[in-house]
Order: sequence, then C-alpha cells, then structure tokens
Amino acid sequence: MVDLKSQYQKIKPEIDAAILDVIDSTAFINGPSVKNFQQNLETYLGVKHVIPCGNGTDALQVAMMGLGLQPGDEVITTTFTFIATAEVIALLHLTPVCVDVDADTMNISIEAIEKAITPKTKAIVPVHLFGQCANMEAILKIAEKHHLYVIEGACQAIGADYKFRNGTTKKAGTIGDVGCTSFFPSKNLGCYGDGGAIFTNNDELANKIRGIVNHGMFVRYYHDLVGVNSRLDSIQAAILDIKLKHLDEYAQARNKAASYYNRAFSNNPKIVTPTTATYTSHVFHQYTLIIKDIDRASLIEFMGEKGIPVMIYYPVPMHKQKAYLDPRYKDGDFPVAEYLSEHVISLPMHTELDEEQLKYITESLLSFINN
Ligand SMILES: Cc1ncc(COP(=O)(O)O)c(C=O)c1O
Repeated sequence: MVDLKSQYQKIKPEIDAAILDVIDSTAFINGPSVKNFQQNLETYLGVKHVIPCGNGTDALQVAMMGLGLQPGDEVITTTFTFIATAEVIALLHLTPVCVDVDADTMNISIEAIEKAITPKTKAIVPVHLFGQCANMEAILKIAEKHHLYVIEGACQAIGADYKFRNGTTKKAGTIGDVGCTSFFPSKNLGCYGDGGAIFTNNDELANKIRGIVNHGMFVRYYHDLVGVNSRLDSIQAAILDIKLKHLDEYAQARNKAASYYNRAFSNNPKIVTPTTATYTSHVFHQYTLIIKDIDRASLIEFMGEKGIPVMIYYPVPMHKQKAYLDPRYKDGDFPVAEYLSEHVISLPMHTELDEEQLKYITESLLSFINN
C-alpha cells in the first residue's frame, strides 16, 4: 500500500545525518530537534501551538483531557473511521455518540450531528477521513450554537487546506478548538516509528496540554494534573523536520496518482471514484473506491494474486465492533457507513507510484471488474 523504502532512498543522506546528529548529542528525549520540528510545523500550519506527543491516539486522548471532558459527557463522532477515536472516548469514560457519514465524502454528516445533540453533548470529533476535511464551517456553526468543543481528527489529512466561504483558508487540524495528528510511518507526514501532535491556537489549553503529556507536571516533580507520558522522541522529530519540507510535494505526488486512477475508472458503472468537497483540498492519505455489484473478496484475492495489495478501510463501523457494541445502536442505524464498510476498497497510494505501476494496477482492477 505504501513504498517507504523508495521514499527514504531519495532523502537518505539528510535523514541519516539527522539521526546521527541526535545520537551524537545523546539528547534522546525532548532534545533540540523536538523544539525545531515543533516550531517549523507551527509555521507550516499557521497555528500558534503544536504540542508533539507519542502518537495520534494519545493526541486525541490528551486533547479530550485538556478540554476537561468528564465521565458521562457525550462526544459525537463518526462511526466510519479508525477505532482510536472511540477508544479514547471509552478510556476516559465519556459517552461516544455515533453518527453516520455522507455517501460522497465519507465524512461525518452535518444533519446527523444536529440530530444527535442532547443536553449532555460536550464535543464533536470530526475525522478528516482519507485526506479531505469534513465540513468544518457547518460544524463550527453547530458548535457555537450549542457551546460544544470541536476536536479535529486530522491524522489522515495533515497539509489539507480548508476553504472558508469568505475565501480564507486554514490547514486541517487548526480550525476547531484543538486538532490531533499521527506521524505513524504510513501517514502523509510519517516518521520511522510512532509519533503524534496536538494543535491549538488557545494559549491556556496549549499550556495545560503541555503539562498533561508530561505527567501533569509544570515544575519538575510537582504534579498539578493527572497526566500521561506521551512524548515525540528526538530521533523521530529530526526525521519529521526533514520530511516536513517535502510534505507539499508529497501531497502533489499523491494527487497525481489519484488523478490517474480517477481517469482510468471514470464512467465505469461499477466504480465510484472519490469525491472531493468544494470546501477542501485533498491530500489522498487513501485512495478509496466504492465498488458496486462486485464480489469484493474475490476482487481482493485476484489483485493479491497479481501482487497488488488492496485494503478495506474500514470493514466494520465503530457501532458494530465487538468491544463497542451498545444497546443504543442496532444494525441499520447508520446505513451509509454500513453500506460503505461493505463496498469500499482502497488501492495503493503513496508518493512513489509511477505510471507503469498505476497502469498495471488500474488495468488489473478493470480486467476483473469488466469481466
Ligand atoms: C483517523 C485516525 N485516528 C487516529 C489514528 C491513530 O494514530 P496512531 O496510530 O498514531 O495512534 C489514526 C492512525 O493510525 C487514524 O487514521
């Protein structure tokens, strides 16, 4: 699905030197590379505060802790995403409130959010799925009306631009009260291990979150808050600082591959290509198709035999996951998410795809579908 090796080869001298620098300095934890990367990412995103942390899941958890969400508070989120969002809601004893997604963007449905609000609702977590932003302007309006926090799940959309109706733009993750991202190796900005970060323009919240990721500690060995240990290590920060310089060019490469796929699959009655909403750019963390009237398992097997990995993101929506079954929800409650989970496939998507590979992938897929 990704080709991290070829990507590394192109920047190897810089990356290797940066890793060796950190080893030489022995500043493995909170070394200067962490601060450098933090500042460079703040500039890139146009956000006041980036707080690096251990991974994207921690970023979500710490954001919710920082906002002071309390057991029993209801948090509205999409049922069609990676489990991390529901997981941290459950770990903090908050109440997850699942909502459906829109069929075209696969992102959280605005109408569904509105219907799910109760007096206990405290926050909305839109996830910018597969690399394009959810409808943030509409979400901010609902949040303002009902005094709710907005926590952006920007793990898959770092670098994407949200376009407001007045013509201004903001980067994914910097629009709500707080944004969260992951630097998992296969992410658009991926490190060589685990990593994550939290974004906010709120000084007070940033300060609190900086304490929470460091054992709730503001003065050494004085713990004012219950915190966690969640740090981005110095080697990962040094790697990310180099890859950040390439992030826009990586997004272009992903877009180029997506355009190739779109052209190849256009007008095929059995394939629905991704729709990009007018209010967002797309950084194609995943290239995800909806396939109709096709035996998906056989298709994946066929592609596998040709040496082409095809993945299903995500085969089971949150409300149908064993660990998260809840008497409030039953089959059919979230028809779009359920349909998508049964009909989507994701094709290889990364920065190193060339025309020959794209030709082979598209021709293979079409040969199965048109048969
Ligand atoms: C939408 C979403 N949320 C959360 C995460 C969790 O990030 P991590 O794996 O860094 O904990 C990921 C990525 O894995 C993700 O894609």
